[in-house]
Amino acid sequence: MCGIVGYVGRAEAGPILLDGLRRLEYRGYDSAGVAIVDGDHVETRKCAGRIAGLSKLMAEDPAAGTYGISHTRWATHGKPTDQNAHPHFDESGKLALVHNGVIENYAQIRETLLQESEHHFKSETDTEVLAHLVGKIYDDSAKGVTDPRRHKALLVEALRSALQQVIGTYGIAMVHADIPDFIVGARRGSPLVLGVGKDENFLASDVSAIVAYTRDAVYLNDFDLVAVERDKFEISSLAGERGNHSISKVEFTAEDIKKGDYPHYMLKEIFEQPGSVCDAMRGRLSLEECTAKLGGLNMTPAQLRDVGRIVLTGCGTALHAGMVGEYLIEQLAQVPTEVEYASEFRHRNTPMTRDTLVFAISQSGETADTLGALRESQRKGYRTLGVCNNVASTIARESDGGVYMHAGPEIGVAATKSFTSQVVILTLIGLLLGRMRHLSTAEGTCIIEALEALPEKIEQLLKTSDQIKAVAQKYVDATGMLFFGRQLNFPIALEAALKLKEITYLYAEGHPSAELKHGVIALVKPELPSVFIVPDDAVFSKNLNNIEQVRARKGPIIAVTTESGAAKLKGIADDLILVPDADDAVMPVLTVIPLQLFAYHLAVALGRDVDKPRNLAKSVTVE
Ligand code: F6R
Repeated sequence: MCGIVGYVGRAEAGPILLDGLRRLEYRGYDSAGVAIVDGDHVETRKCAGRIAGLSKLMAEDPAAGTYGISHTRWATHGKPTDQNAHPHFDESGKLALVHNGVIENYAQIRETLLQESEHHFKSETDTEVLAHLVGKIYDDSAKGVTDPRRHKALLVEALRSALQQVIGTYGIAMVHADIPDFIVGARRGSPLVLGVGKDENFLASDVSAIVAYTRDAVYLNDFDLVAVERDKFEISSLAGERGNHSISKVEFTAEDIKKGDYPHYMLKEIFEQPGSVCDAMRGRLSLEECTAKLGGLNMTPAQLRDVGRIVLTGCGTALHAGMVGEYLIEQLAQVPTEVEYASEFRHRNTPMTRDTLVFAISQSGETADTLGALRESQRKGYRTLGVCNNVASTIARESDGGVYMHAGPEIGVAATKSFTSQVVILTLIGLLLGRMRHLSTAEGTCIIEALEALPEKIEQLLKTSDQIKAVAQKYVDATGMLFFGRQLNFPIALEAALKLKEITYLYAEGHPSAELKHGVIALVKPELPSVFIVPDDAVFSKNLNNIEQVRARKGPIIAVTTESGAAKLKGIADDLILVPDADDAVMPVLTVIPLQLFAYHLAVALGRDVDKPRNLAKSVTVE
């Protein structure tokens, strides 16, 4: 989703602003722009399309200056055109502003502005209306004020006053040609972080944009405004109170967000899974007590024992991890568990009991729908916990406790390593709750051993990437794909279908295998392969029936199975993808990985932009 970078310091702002935007590319965007204050005026370059286009503009017609703002836009109001790209200006042309989020009452503000004075709007965006509003308030208040120090305070006040009139969400950065070495930021619902450097400071939507320059960060809260200069910053609330924020150290370095020798971030992240899975359980397993230790939940054993119901909420891949979690938690702990789409949950009146625990699952920790579900649960008085990857993200900060994934930065738009980390963490939660109830020491030990064996099995699996590639390349002419699985592997069918859709743009659906005969079978034809996720488990023979039903209708079959399953599927499946044998409870971590690779290799074979698939954004901060 949209990205913001701001810089004020002694270096040329242009290269830093562009570099920051490149590092935010993974968030998804369709246009980009820069505004740099050059002496007494603001120079802007912006265009629809990729950052490479903006770089070219900057190279042909450089903009000089040591402070400025930049933006990648993911269209919400108005088409992705040069005019609609940010930054936008006020009527005077001196104030430039970039904005993430949505100003819901922009039409009304626009109307009022037009009634009051002359305004010439050049775009269809809500952002330009906001720029005009801030500019007008500033110009009115700064008339006749000669002390330049007062101008800084007046600009902050103008933004504060404008935002008090706004209904909606925003992450904002702003500069004014008359106020040297000064940028102003604000956030509500759209993340914004301040990077604290030496004689230079930064603003960014996420720290990956600025981690190459500084690892000292201040995470702004909703309703914060920040005035940033080279050597100082001041945070205040929308209500005008002074903020007291501490500086945190960013957990990762610029090196961690490099592609290294991999052609794509997605492939790098798939290959990082032996390590990320290990990090998700590091220090969290107790062989002695045959259980998991999750101190971050901030709950006493008595409180954990009293949990009567669990709601797991999230979106997309995180929701699929939640679905695996539902099977696992009910199986291991027998605690009634439900999975809710965050976007639905937050608006409906789900029956909840006082002993319900709500988990918000989110890699980014910033997804608007998941955050909305979390806040709604809190409003109703339920204990809410986060399962997040981004440390200090809004969901992580606003929940009552939680479990960090520690998966490291995930840059590929298609989530991979975060999914397996989420599944591992949900297994730990099931184990912990189970061991507090009826789960025996032997069963607990069995789960721990299965978890501990995972990294090595994943290593083994990754060695078969070329074989999976060969299978994927056979299906470049497929018109779409169906994915089937049962029990814990049903959510894997959904996740595999999502991966395929996202990066190959092929039509794909996931279903419980047995649902085939209730309708889906009508789709089966030679051009539409079916992928069955069928380890040799208790439901293997049932899956086999479904495979035969597809085969009888000439549908090609790809089976993801274990060695013993493969022996039974010889001559039945057209292609076999092998996974190592493991306890059923951890099998989803193993079955999903070859399907991530399958989607990846097919997307590459089809010439798709794997890391930046069309229309998608990594962190979805609008509803
Ligand atoms: C799929 C994908 C999305 C995200 C979803 C939630 O590959 O990346 O479906 O899983 O937007 O994002 P987070 O986990 O950041 O809340």
